[in-house]
Amino acid sequence: MAVQFLKHVALAIPEADCDKAEEFYTNFGLELRRRGDLMAFACKGSRYDAVILVPGANRKQLHHVAMGTDEGGLAWIKQRLALEEIPLLDAPECIDAHEISENRIWFRDPHGVLFQVAVCPPEKAPAPEPQFLINSPGHFNRVDVGALPPKSDIADVCPRKLGHALLFTPSISGSIRFLTDVLGMRLSDRSEDAVAFLHCQGGSDHHVLALGSSHDIGFHHASFMVGSPDDVGVGGQRMVDKGYGPSWGFGRHAIGSNFFHYIRDPWGSYAEYYADIDYIANSDTWEAQNWPIEDSLHTWGPNPPEDFVHNYEAG
Ligand SMILES: [Fe+2]
Repeated sequence: MAVQFLKHVALAIPEADCDKAEEFYTNFGLELRRRGDLMAFACKGSRYDAVILVPGANRKQLHHVAMGTDEGGLAWIKQRLALEEIPLLDAPECIDAHEISENRIWFRDPHGVLFQVAVCPPEKAPAPEPQFLINSPGHFNRVDVGALPPKSDIADVCPRKLGHALLFTPSISGSIRFLTDVLGMRLSDRSEDAVAFLHCQGGSDHHVLALGSSHDIGFHHASFMVGSPDDVGVGGQRMVDKGYGPSWGFGRHAIGSNFFHYIRDPWGSYAEYYADIDYIANSDTWEAQNWPIEDSLHTWGPNPPEDFVHNYEAG
């Protein structure tokens, strides 16, 4: 089944940005795990780091994307890489010492994005939580109780898992072909040549990797599942109140259906809170749609910042 989940994304950053990076991600709700010279941020209780920062770069850039699989998946991907004549690479030394899996490979996609695929157990599933109940015409699902406690009683918003990342690519179609033919992902939906969304086979969120059009590669956002639409709203508002921005949200995507609030990170890319994303149980029966371009961003919510889709990593 090839790749099964997104393990982490790694960004190279300037040494001088370490303090503001730590402040940003810990305020967002992730916990800092120091890995030697690296800074890693993870959802509390998770098996894997979600965002790994590699200090020492001249400017922030996507360092690599790591995906998890099993022995069979790795063997399949190795075959596909060989067919495409894509060479395996040595592991970056800075990452290698801190990884859990012994059995992993490194390679670049046709546009230069560095990938790691590792044999490793899946991330722990977030613990089940009380259902998010709403009343609607003909349905009294929440009875004799209010929806929210006083604002001051609402706990800190904790991301439950790394859900997906969106990468810039100079060729949406070329990257779709690579992710499907070589990594075994499936196309969920796309909007012309502006954006595309891919999932893993075997039961997956609507998107695990997403692609945005640019003239170069780059990292646009990492997205984290929270407990409910209220968590998206509260988490986003609290980040705005702490001075982060410009943000984009609260709103809802049509493609994938998720509620969202994007918070701008220190480099002009984003960390996203999301809730209620579509789940694709069977890739073979899911039919990918090509959505009108006006649906590519959102269905409702404020307009995004003007530079929301600008690739600040592009030279
Ligand atoms: Fe997203």
